[in-house]
Amino acid sequence: MISINKSINNLKKKLDHNNLPKHIAIIMDGNGRWAKKKLLPRSAGHREGVKRVREIVEECGNIGIDFLTIYAFSTENWNRPKDEVNYLMSLLIEFLNKELETLHKNNVKINVLGEIDALEENVQDEIKKALIKTKNNSKLTLNIALNYGGRKEIALSLKHIIKDLNKGNISIEEVDENLINDYLYTKGQPDPDLLIRTSGELRISNFLIYQLAYTEFYFTNVNWPDFKKKNLYKALIEYQQRNRRFGGL
Ligand code: FPP
Repeated sequence: MISINKSINNLKKKLDHNNLPKHIAIIMDGNGRWAKKKLLPRSAGHREGVKRVREIVEECGNIGIDFLTIYAFSTENWNRPKDEVNYLMSLLIEFLNKELETLHKNNVKINVLGEIDALEENVQDEIKKALIKTKNNSKLTLNIALNYGGRKEIALSLKHIIKDLNKGNISIEEVDENLINDYLYTKGQPDPDLLIRTSGELRISNFLIYQLAYTEFYFTNVNWPDFKKKNLYKALIEYQQRNRRFGGL
């Protein structure tokens, strides 16, 4: 324990607090492989993954990150066996149930990116409770991407833009990148500065495809259930070594 603390403290010292990402997005991948390696059911990987969610959210709050977006369930995840889908939903309910008080005390604002109307009623109820309770919080915004798909998000925004055009609420000349931003689930938020994907996969898997245009990507072979505070610090330190040019020189 002493040596773990020492290594975290060493990493913390290297962090430049004047160059933090405002928004971190995470594709939490590798729960199943983590479990398989340990000869455990996939569900054990997801359960351990929730512990990391708790830990990383807490640490992002401590560090002073403004926005954290986690990919909890994609529109494609419905293709998994029903039992696994149900288990993931039950973990989400359990997480919100157990953690809501603490999240609220820590001034975390919960937000959901995705189509929640399509979720079971009990999941929707839990989400609504969390949204209402934390709506005035102002420290860290935790975006939970749930039943989320990037292409779907763009299609929906297009639909809403066309509706507003037809109603005369906006004119065609006003349609630009900024206006599109206002029709996305992330309306009013800065784009992610850093995307982390665990488990060695090198894809973005339909995640925030509009918002990631200039994001720095950090890929690690570590499976999500093993992604602890020290791994977050490593990602942040690597991010701080990047030279972000946004297309300029
Ligand atoms: C990827 O692992 C992970 C997911 C599909 C879901 C992530 C969900 C959690 C961490 C738990 C629930 C979340 C909250 C917010 C309480 P995988 O199953 O694709 O792993 P594999 O690629 O190794 O099979």
